[in-house]
Amino acid sequence: MKNIYSNILKVNNKNLSKAINYLKKKELVGVPTETVYGLAGNAYSYKAVKKIYYLKKRPFKNPLIIHYYNLDQLKNDVELNSDFFKLYKKFSPGPITFVLKKKKNSLLSSIATAKLNTVAVRFPRDKTLRKILKSLNFPLAIPSANKSTHISPVSAKDVAQEFKSSIKVILNGGSCKIGLESTVVDLTFKPKILRPGFIAPTNISKTLNKKIKINNNLKIFKAPGMLKRHYSPGIPIKLNQKKAGSNEAFIVFGKRYKKGKNIFNLSYKSSLNEAAKNLYKTLRLIKNKKYKMICVCLIPKTGIGLAINDRLNRASK
Ligand code: TXA
Ligand code: MG
Repeated sequence: MKNIYSNILKVNNKNLSKAINYLKKKELVGVPTETVYGLAGNAYSYKAVKKIYYLKKRPFKNPLIIHYYNLDQLKNDVELNSDFFKLYKKFSPGPITFVLKKKKNSLLSSIATAKLNTVAVRFPRDKTLRKILKSLNFPLAIPSANKSTHISPVSAKDVAQEFKSSIKVILNGGSCKIGLESTVVDLTFKPKILRPGFIAPTNISKTLNKKIKINNNLKIFKAPGMLKRHYSPGIPIKLNQKKAGSNEAFIVFGKRYKKGKNIFNLSYKSSLNEAAKNLYKTLRLIKNKKYKMICVCLIPKTGIGLAINDRLNRASK
């Protein structure tokens, strides 16, 4: 198929160098990660980070996640603690983000962290992004590559649809393996999950050998940016439905649901991992098909099901 978006580039040495040079020049690049596609910029540069907020129409009070290659890069910016080391050893690089205390002499642009005294940090697993991070002497601020409150992108084409030609380079790393954002865990005090994700609370709690709180009250968030409405296709969504009208999109899970034009099954084999991977793709498809209402069946609230329900909940606000 012809690539109609000339800013989507395949991953090869030439295009990697191009992306790296853009980042060095404080320009933004669309990058694949194992969770969702991101919009990357130099986290030490006010100019680059400001562009991220403008392009996403993101409120300045919503801080960004800073992505690092390894601990050498990280040590200058945050205070590390024993909970961090345990989780880092077990899950990084991978789909987990740690909130830690910011060091006073950190070079991070203060708007990247919304002027907070904490920083959210992540070590992405995607090979292409790791090559890029390794070759830079600064970390990357990378929010999901969607306009604020929209559905997160899980392919290079989704990113191109969000930003059109306002980003010059989007590296095409194929579709995201996980398809949902990282688990965000606050380690500044008693460990607390601020955003559920692929890595389940029980795994985190087992690794830390501690109880872990889950912040699932949509109204009270430590992060100013844990917005109530988010991940939204801009269409009303009804959750926990048993059926849907024939002109409504019906998102279902498992093989007991019939097939049909308006039925979108996240996973016939009832795999929550597969459902997570299909969620944003399905929401975007339904939006593009111009449905006016979305009904969603009950989806189990265990493991990554917690994260799926969290995103659907916010998308429905
Ligand atoms: O999987 C991911 O985490 C993706 C990929 C691209 O890495 N990134 C992502 O970034 O989801 P974004 O900007 O869409 O979401 C970042 C979340 C926001 O809810 C923000 O409020 C929270 O992380 N956050 C950032 N800094 C924080 C901090 N210092 N304290 C608490 N929450 C923070
Ligand atoms: Mg986002």
